[in-house]
Amino acid sequence: MRIQLVGLGHVGQSMLQLISEKTSLPNSLIPDARIVSISDSKGTAVDEDGLSPLEVLRYKGLGWKGFKKYIKGYTPLNAIRRVESDVMVELTPSTLSGEPGLSNIKAALRARKNVVTANKGPLVVDYEGLTRTARKVGVRLCYEATVGAHVPVFCLVESCFKADELESIRGILNATTNFVIGQMEEGRGFQKSIEAAVRAGWAERNYSDDIDGLDSARKVVILANALFGSNARLDDVKVEGIRNVEAQVDAARRENMRVKLVCQITRNGSQLELTVSPKMIPLDDPLATVNEGDMAIEYTFKTSKRIFVSAQFLGPRQTAYAVLNDILRIETRSAC
Ligand SMILES: NC(=O)c1ccc[n+]([C@@H]2O[C@H](COP(=O)([O-])OP(=O)(O)OC[C@H]3O[C@@H](n4cnc5c(N)ncnc54)[C@H](OP(=O)(O)O)[C@@H]3O)[C@@H](O)[C@H]2O)c1
Repeated sequence: MRIQLVGLGHVGQSMLQLISEKTSLPNSLIPDARIVSISDSKGTAVDEDGLSPLEVLRYKGLGWKGFKKYIKGYTPLNAIRRVESDVMVELTPSTLSGEPGLSNIKAALRARKNVVTANKGPLVVDYEGLTRTARKVGVRLCYEATVGAHVPVFCLVESCFKADELESIRGILNATTNFVIGQMEEGRGFQKSIEAAVRAGWAERNYSDDIDGLDSARKVVILANALFGSNARLDDVKVEGIRNVEAQVDAARRENMRVKLVCQITRNGSQLELTVSPKMIPLDDPLATVNEGDMAIEYTFKTSKRIFVSAQFLGPRQTAYAVLNDILRIETRSAC
């Protein structure tokens, strides 16, 4: 299997690290796996015989100085169109326009390449178009890591509850806000809690996508489209973030409850209601057990009823693991 990687930030580098550490991943499971191109924002490293993950990580750390296989200005689109491969892994930043990921994914699908991505942007902007193209050309588009990183979401429903009917979803799907609310529960104000999150590596300096609920809203759109067959857009989600949640956190403590930023999808007749908002959760509700930067999702099915999955989230290594698992699913043609 020939793999192209676009985006070599936290997740892309963790993926190379995982591959280099674990000889079982993906090499013993996919014996002929090789990474034939790796692009970042400034250029692309190419070797059709396979790039060494450790060598790439070392030269990326040196700003590519002295690495002859790195071609400055050679864009991901050029690489996707010109370098032969079986899978394109898209790991550029999630943006409102979906770009550059949207164009990269479209180009890969048009070239009949399977796609694995952790990038929410393209799926929020054009879930329907991308999945239709993938079906039409007969390749797979896998995006397990887009919602909840390594928390099993799409593959769980696909492999275990395919015959059931999904009625609703509740989830805590943004690690940063969950960490920040946890800091507030310990008595810190909003600003001090954010600073603690930045220091602990949970929040970027530009944290508004997380704090204002946009990151969670993107996940709600993908869930609605992938699991409920909807054609939802970001505007369809009613969003409230956690900037003004301090008083609610205090009130919750007095009433033996916890505040969580909850993503929710419920049916209202033939309509779906999509919301992201801070909610007071009783302590005996499983969502109240989700601490720090962990994430969780609760599905309610017509027959199977409530299924709750939660996972400890520590960072991009786990996201990278979910990406690798998607690559293996493509190789083994499995649902999960
Ligand atoms: N971090 C997580 O655990 C996590 C969890 C779930 C989903 N995700 C999603 O996964 C994706 C990657 O996350 P990340 O944390 O690895 O992001 P990141 O650290 O910001 O890395 C982004 C990478 O994309 C490259 N890039 C930016 N614009 C580009 C362009 N126009 N052409 C080619 N490459 C470009 C950057 O290049 P330079 O290196 O040159 O700057 C960088 O290598 C995002 O969409 C994110 O939302 C991340």
